[in-house]
Amino acid sequence: MTALRPVPEHIVRPPYARGAPDPRPPLVKSPEVIERMRRAGRVARAVLDEVLAAVAPGVTTEQLDRVAHDATVARGGYPSPLGYRGFPKSLCTSINEVVCHGIPGHRRLLDGDIINCDVTVYLDGVHGDCSETVFVGTPTPAARTLVEHTFQAMWRGIEAVRDGARVNAIGKAIEQYVKPLGYGVVREFGGHGIGECFHMAPNVLHYFERRNRQKLQAGMTLTVEPMINAGDARCALLSDGWTAVTRDGSLSAQFEHTLLVTRDGCEVLTLGDDPRPFFQRGA
Ligand code: MF3
Ligand code: CO
Ligand code: CO
Repeated sequence: MTALRPVPEHIVRPPYARGAPDPRPPLVKSPEVIERMRRAGRVARAVLDEVLAAVAPGVTTEQLDRVAHDATVARGGYPSPLGYRGFPKSLCTSINEVVCHGIPGHRRLLDGDIINCDVTVYLDGVHGDCSETVFVGTPTPAARTLVEHTFQAMWRGIEAVRDGARVNAIGKAIEQYVKPLGYGVVREFGGHGIGECFHMAPNVLHYFERRNRQKLQAGMTLTVEPMINAGDARCALLSDGWTAVTRDGSLSAQFEHTLLVTRDGCEVLTLGDDPRPFFQRGA
């Protein structure tokens, strides 16, 4: 394995990257922490935009990793994936049948691929996490349809978030949208609470589970990040211990935002100035 990309000394590392125990922060954030979450979310969005702009046929996923790493560090952040539970890179790159947690490497992007780039930034003591799937060159009609529906599915989930709702309202909304389409909603990986910790409670399932009934409260911050497979929902794990793929080899797409639960809905902390996903923006 190649050496980890260096991070300048002045960048503050998350606890797991300095051998410190993970904190056990309260799920409901203080106004001061929320303000820091807004900044981490904005930086994660800016970094993701830079990464997505670099996607093109012939580019390697390792080159995208460099863009993510440098763009994060340039903004004073630490790239959260780097060294997280042994993850070796600063970005997750998941191509075609890869469901999530693809490790950047020598793979070159090809015309017709779809790729999800997942950026997480640790800034000022908190994480911001977001991802999008984009087309490399011209997509097949089936790939375009899957990506469009996955984006819609994420928004159905986001629209179910508000103070007092149960967390399983998110999965219910996503499943209701996806089921008639004949796609599979991935069950092995979910969204998560986020803040001082990269991953914390609540566990956000993207399918309906009666027992996933923790109440959402204003001031909680969490991600919604459905992975939708064109075929069967089931996943397999490659021998690198990270890369999750569809069992049947079908395409998989994903979108992710970090949200703040509010009285009557939520604030999308990773939205940025342009609410359109990258795949719908003009060149
Ligand atoms: N960003 C991913 C998520 O949405 C987690 C990546 S963990 C890593 O939760 F170690 F693979 F980076
Ligand atoms: Co996440
Ligand atoms: Co993520």
